[in-house]
Amino acid sequence: MAIFKDNRFRQAKDTPLYQQIYAHLQAAILSGELKRGLKLPSSRALADELRISRNTVLNAYRQLIAEGYLESAGGSGTFVARVLPESLLTTPGRKAPANTRQTKPRKPRISEHAMLQMAAYKIDGAAEPSSSRLPRPFASGTPALDAFPYAIWSRLIARQARRMPDSAFAYQSTAGYRPLREAIAAHVTVSRRVHCTPEQIVIVPGAQGALDLAARILLNAGDAVWMEDPGYPGARGAFLGVNARIIPVPIDNDGLVVEAGMAKAPKARLVYLTPSHQFPLGVTMSLSRRLALLDWAKRANAYILEDDYDSEYRYAGRPLAALQGLDDAERVIYIGTFSKVLFPALRIGYLILPMPLVDVFLKVKSLIDVHNPMLEQAVLTDFMVEGHFVRHLRRMRTLYAERRKALIKAARGLPLEIDSPEAGIHCIGWLPKGMDDLALIRRAANYDLDLWPVSYFCIEPLARKGLLLGFAGYSVQKIKDGIHKLALAMSAM
Ligand SMILES: Cc1ncc(COP(=O)(O)O)c(C=O)c1O
Repeated sequence: MAIFKDNRFRQAKDTPLYQQIYAHLQAAILSGELKRGLKLPSSRALADELRISRNTVLNAYRQLIAEGYLESAGGSGTFVARVLPESLLTTPGRKAPANTRQTKPRKPRISEHAMLQMAAYKIDGAAEPSSSRLPRPFASGTPALDAFPYAIWSRLIARQARRMPDSAFAYQSTAGYRPLREAIAAHVTVSRRVHCTPEQIVIVPGAQGALDLAARILLNAGDAVWMEDPGYPGARGAFLGVNARIIPVPIDNDGLVVEAGMAKAPKARLVYLTPSHQFPLGVTMSLSRRLALLDWAKRANAYILEDDYDSEYRYAGRPLAALQGLDDAERVIYIGTFSKVLFPALRIGYLILPMPLVDVFLKVKSLIDVHNPMLEQAVLTDFMVEGHFVRHLRRMRTLYAERRKALIKAARGLPLEIDSPEAGIHCIGWLPKGMDDLALIRRAANYDLDLWPVSYFCIEPLARKGLLLGFAGYSVQKIKDGIHKLALAMSAM
């Protein structure tokens, strides 16, 4: 056979002969030297010609047949396949599939709601989170990753990994690991005065998973949703994902201005809010406003999404009870997350639903992500029931109170008005009149600071410009250094 005329295949001494023959035939087929449909010599004839054993040729032919390069037609011989596996793959000298061609990239055709979500996504040029780098001051939303009890956590992971029965590797309940739901129910009943049973709890991948699910289930395109303004972009993005109509509702010292929402969209389907510690301004919603909101929701047949993302952190007085505990008309859907009380990469949060909504949430969730991963749920359960969770919270309250104090003290020399209610894990630094927040942030980035402007969280422009200053995630020294750098950036403005 022509392709074997110079016996090149005998030169590669480390490669078995049958593999050399296989590779030569494959290359000749792919280059077109051996045409599709061509009949090959019989294994015996080729073996005689090459003076090798017939088995060697048979092995090469068998592999090429198995991979689809050759076809065996029983007694009538072996042929080059008419349809090659490479017609679906990229091969040298062939046209590459469309997604790898070096042509000008075409804009992908995406849905309107995906475009809306893209527009709401984030500030251009913001750094991507990285697993090799800790967040930098004063990025908000970061708990103390330098004080997490990694030794305990890894011990619990190892123990669970050893102990897990085979059944834990099968599909699990969409609602989440039952013992975890029991532990959460016990915790929120005491610490947040939420009224619930484990049956009302659905474990989700963080608050974001809860928001996405709620948006899909509760909203039609065009439905009005009240959003705190300024407010949490993660929620706005989820609502835009179902083409809902966002109604910005202002915040004052008593929290969401319920009357303003009622005036703007009395028939809204949903309200999203952070009543315990408004994000980002930090105010706590007053009792009278809470009651007014519940009363309106009952009359309007609207749902309230209560995002209780960081309410465990209060540095004076007792945490205020959740809005959910005041609801007697099954209007409130409570969202909890472990992102701030443990760490955000855990991706575990939970919904506490009015009983009539449980079935639909479970069915829709089962079509999205089936259920959360099992190992982390089991480890988190151990962490809670063995008392590590409450101990960690207690330690973090003390640590964050120190860090908050250090920030307030260090910022005294700056032309910033610090607004820091005794709660949460960030505060606001209001800028002097006329100072450009975005220019300051760009300048501060040169000093390795990661700052976010209040304006980013606004739907309608706010008269004042300010910065979010996260404090929980940074040591006192880092806070002092960060404020020094911020002072340098501000002095150049
Ligand atoms: C208002 C608010 N809700 C929820 C979250 C947490 O979201 P997740 O649980 O998806 O990490 C954050 C995080 O920054 C937040 O600011």
